[in-house]
Amino acid sequence: MVEEISIRKIDHVKFFVGNARQSAYFYRNAYGFDVVAYAGLETKVKNEAGYVLKQGGITFVLMSPLRANHPDASRLILHGDGVSDIALQVDDVRESYNLAVSRGAVGVIGPRAVEDAHGVYHYATIRAYGDTTHTFVNRDQYHGAFAPGFDAIDPSRYNPATYHETGLLAIDHIVGNVEEGKMNEWVEFYRKVLGFEQLVSFDDQDISTEYSALMSKVVQSGRGRIKFPINEPAHGRRKSQIEEYIDFYGGAGVQHIALATNDIVHTVRALKANDVSFLRVPRTYYDTVLDRVGDIKENIEELADLGILVDRDDEGYMLQIFTKPVQDRPTLFFEIIQREGSKSFGKGNFKALFEAIEREQEIRGTL
Ligand code: FE2
Repeated sequence: MVEEISIRKIDHVKFFVGNARQSAYFYRNAYGFDVVAYAGLETKVKNEAGYVLKQGGITFVLMSPLRANHPDASRLILHGDGVSDIALQVDDVRESYNLAVSRGAVGVIGPRAVEDAHGVYHYATIRAYGDTTHTFVNRDQYHGAFAPGFDAIDPSRYNPATYHETGLLAIDHIVGNVEEGKMNEWVEFYRKVLGFEQLVSFDDQDISTEYSALMSKVVQSGRGRIKFPINEPAHGRRKSQIEEYIDFYGGAGVQHIALATNDIVHTVRALKANDVSFLRVPRTYYDTVLDRVGDIKENIEELADLGILVDRDDEGYMLQIFTKPVQDRPTLFFEIIQREGSKSFGKGNFKALFEAIEREQEIRGTL
């Protein structure tokens, strides 16, 4: 048996949603993904429908149940739309699964090899925080569109793109919100079960405004190719944004997915033109930002117009912006990030950002 699970990268992120067909429209036309594969009744899949969307190195899979007796149908009532699985590509699915389970992971689906005309697709699934899972995937012997059950869709069968190209390249990090007192447990899960290493940690002194206190630790794998920050609520005067998430999601789950670009000004302009809504910080943020972060190559006026935030650490700087939640519940949202050397997560922006989130919470009456 192998000593370490060799995780290559995030293979795909699976969203369980109420209406995969309509979600595919959103991710195509707002975020600029290509719709490349489909599963459903027409491909002999009886109980669910799914769309595979790709852009740069990012793969999203949107799945919806077709009937009430689908094993996961009830999660739509409990969680609403959200991320159900973060699939990790590994060298060997069976060894990864066996090693994870021997170290305490809870198995959901044991190792399987599914064969169709395009080859053999290997996968196995373990539990992560809340109802989220990790599926180990190996597609070295599989040459189909995505996985057995899915047929390729020629992206050109859709009308020519009327959206603005967004230039999203990769998943930078995926953040989980867990219940109060559970952060360390999940950090240990990633360290001991999956062999991640722990990065910087923030405590509630670093990350608190009057209300939205949280604690956060980051685990990473593959020298930073995969980064998972884990948040838990900390005590503030009123309700933490993490508690708000857990209330509405019905437990722990994925809070945000950060998508990397190498030209955030272009990306955010395009996303705005596609009608994506972002959180705004007050204009006064830009009065002092350059004193804090020093020289940057971007035009500060342009960043201020778009509401892009800047932070710096010892290794460089980074630019980031956060969308509003992408479903009715105040749960999952996206971050757009451009790294110019910095490997951190924008700690210097937390205060301005959390105040912006609190203004939204105030409007929702959940503060
Ligand atoms: Fe983030």
